[in-house]
Amino acid sequence: MDLRNLDDATFAEIEAAFDEYGVIVFRDQFLTPAEQVAFSRRFGPLDHFPYGLFNMADHPEIVILSNILQEGKPIGMNDAGRYWHSDMWTLDQPPRGSMLCAIEVPVEDKIALGDTYFASSTHAFDTLPHELKARVASLHGVFSTARYKKFVGHEKPDNVYLKEIVKAAAEQPDSEVTHPLVRKHPRTGKTCLFIVEGVIRTILELENAEANDLLDTLLAHTVRPEVTYRHRWRVGDVVMWDNYSAMHRAIGDFELPLRRLMHRTTLSASEMESSHDATTG
Ligand code: SIN
Repeated sequence: MDLRNLDDATFAEIEAAFDEYGVIVFRDQFLTPAEQVAFSRRFGPLDHFPYGLFNMADHPEIVILSNILQEGKPIGMNDAGRYWHSDMWTLDQPPRGSMLCAIEVPVEDKIALGDTYFASSTHAFDTLPHELKARVASLHGVFSTARYKKFVGHEKPDNVYLKEIVKAAAEQPDSEVTHPLVRKHPRTGKTCLFIVEGVIRTILELENAEANDLLDTLLAHTVRPEVTYRHRWRVGDVVMWDNYSAMHRAIGDFELPLRRLMHRTTLSASEMESSHDATTG
């Protein structure tokens, strides 16, 4: 299909597939930034990426993910998402989902690099042993940006990308936010695990050692190779993921002169969360 020209019935099919599968892939779309923003807006309001540094000047709804340097300066975030996560977990209300358009894909010996892995947080919850489901459903994790920086190595910036990102991050004081480890999807009612690799400092209801063991168990269960999808990118791809029902991780197995350029839009959860509140009181 052509995402630039969709009637309402076809769009409704896409949205239903997005709700059902959590990750959807469209090949050969080649969207311009304006077309990407227009298609993204059909899902509702958009969130801007919090650090303004790499938001596109004339389309600030798009954040640029790239390893490309222009005059020695990065044009985008180079190391985005190289850990199992759902997006923008630092916010009280993380987004509904994200859309990534592949503009340039690194290729070596005819093989595309820079794949992205996906895992289903819904399947992860559904396949937990019964007692663990009940236990996890009452717990709350403390998600910490200081933990994140340590986990991804930002406290030891050794390259130009990290220097820029650390500069931007330094302007934002470290913060913590508490999220339930299990959340209901406001549109589908599906139950989703809400964990992020390496950033949950503790679980409010547990001692630290027990919390760490539990988080390791939950992550290992969620990202078992037999239940992950590995997306091998082609220029022109549009991939969307639901931030409640899917986790993802970029593998980042390439370096300049191989170039990667992706444009990401972020779908806000505000509308679906408020209509969920209205229906559930
Ligand atoms: C992200 O986490 O948004 C980045 C995914 C990717 O670059 O493959």
